[in-house]
Amino acid sequence: MPFQALLTEKSEAGAITSSVQTLDNSRLPDGNVTLTVEWSGLNYKDGLALTGGGGIVRTYPHIGGIDASGTVLDSADPRYAPGDQVILTGWRVGETHWGGYAQKLRLDANWLVPLPKGMSTRTAMMLGTAGFTAMRAIDRLEANGLTPSGGEVLVTGAGGGTGSIAVHLLGKLGYQVVAVSGRPQLAEGLRQLGATSIIARDELMATPDKPLESARWAGVVDTVGGAMLGKVLKQVKAQGAVAAFGNAGGIELNTTVLPFILRGVALLGIDSVMQSYSARIPAWTRLAELFDPVAFEPFVSEVGLAELPQAARDILAGKVQGRTLVKLR
Ligand SMILES: NC(=O)c1ccc[n+]([C@@H]2O[C@H](COP(=O)([O-])OP(=O)(O)OC[C@H]3O[C@@H](n4cnc5c(N)ncnc54)[C@H](OP(=O)(O)O)[C@@H]3O)[C@@H](O)[C@H]2O)c1
Repeated sequence: MPFQALLTEKSEAGAITSSVQTLDNSRLPDGNVTLTVEWSGLNYKDGLALTGGGGIVRTYPHIGGIDASGTVLDSADPRYAPGDQVILTGWRVGETHWGGYAQKLRLDANWLVPLPKGMSTRTAMMLGTAGFTAMRAIDRLEANGLTPSGGEVLVTGAGGGTGSIAVHLLGKLGYQVVAVSGRPQLAEGLRQLGATSIIARDELMATPDKPLESARWAGVVDTVGGAMLGKVLKQVKAQGAVAAFGNAGGIELNTTVLPFILRGVALLGIDSVMQSYSARIPAWTRLAELFDPVAFEPFVSEVGLAELPQAARDILAGKVQGRTLVKLR
C-alpha cells in the first residue's frame, strides 16, 4: 500500500522545501521492522532538520521526524510481531535515516522500545524525545543527590517541549519548581503544570554578573544552554547540579571554574540520541508512572504533515508552547 510522507528536498540552488507526497513501499529505507506510524512529534532538532539548519540532514530527499509511535506491520526480528505497539526516539532516525513524518517507517528493531503498559501511542508522542530527555535529566540530578527536601529546582526554557515536561515531572515528584520563561503569558499554565513560581528570562539574566552569585538552586534542568547556562551555574547551591542538554540559546558556555571547585557543582550532560535499550526502558517505565496526559493537554497542539513546515519555523522562533503532535492516522 502506498503511504503519505512529508518529503524534504534540496534544489540545485540549495533551497530546502518540504511537501506531502504519496510514496510506494519500494521507497522505504533498509530495516528489519516496518511500522504503521500513528503519531510523531516536533522537537527543536526537527525544526532545524526541516529548514536545513544545524547540519542535521546531509542526504536528500529526506523524511524528518526524530520520534514516532505506532504499530508493527511486519517484523523479521523475533522480539516484535505484527500488532505490537512501539516507540522510536533518537538513534539519528529523522537525521541520517528516514523518520517519523510518514505513515510508514522501516528501521532497525534495536532502535525500538515497546509502548509501556497503559500508555497510548498519542501520549508516547506527547513525551517523545522531549519527555525521554527530561526524565533522563531528572534521573541524573537525583543520582547526584537531589531530593524534594533539598530546595528549589530551576527549569530554563520552561515554555518549550522539554522544559514544560520537566516542570510537570518535577512537580509530580514533589519538588519546588521554579520555571524560567521568556513568555509571561505562559505563567498560569506553567503553575498548573507544577511550577511553584515563575521567573522572567530577563529577570534571571539581570542579576549583577559575578563569578559566583547567591546560591539558590538545589538543581537545574537547563534546556537553553549559552549565556543562560553560564548564568545558572553561578547560582547553584553547594553539591548541587545542572543537567544540560539544550542549545536553543546558543552553543557557547562561558564559565569560571569557581562553581565547580568552591561549591562542588556538577554539570551533567544529557544525550538522548544514542542511549542503550537498557537505559531507555527504566526511563519510559518511570514516565508511564509519573506523566499525566490529561494535566499536560493544555500544553499540546496537533498538526498534520502539511502544517509541519510552518510549525518548524515557529519552534525555531521560540513560538511553540509545550509539545506539538503530528497526526499520521
Ligand atoms: N541533547 C539531547 O539529547 C537533547 C534532547 C532534546 C532536546 N535537546 C535540545 O534542548 C533544547 C530544547 O528542545 P525543545 O524541543 O524543548 O525546544 P523548544 O520546544 O523550542 O523549547 C525551547 C525553549 O527555550 C526557550 N528559548 C528559546 N530561545 C531562547 C533563547 N534565545 N534564550 C533563552 N531561552 C530561549 C523558549 O522557552 P520560553 O519561551 O518559555 O523561555 C523555548 O520554548 C533544544 O536546543 C534541543 O535541541 C537536546
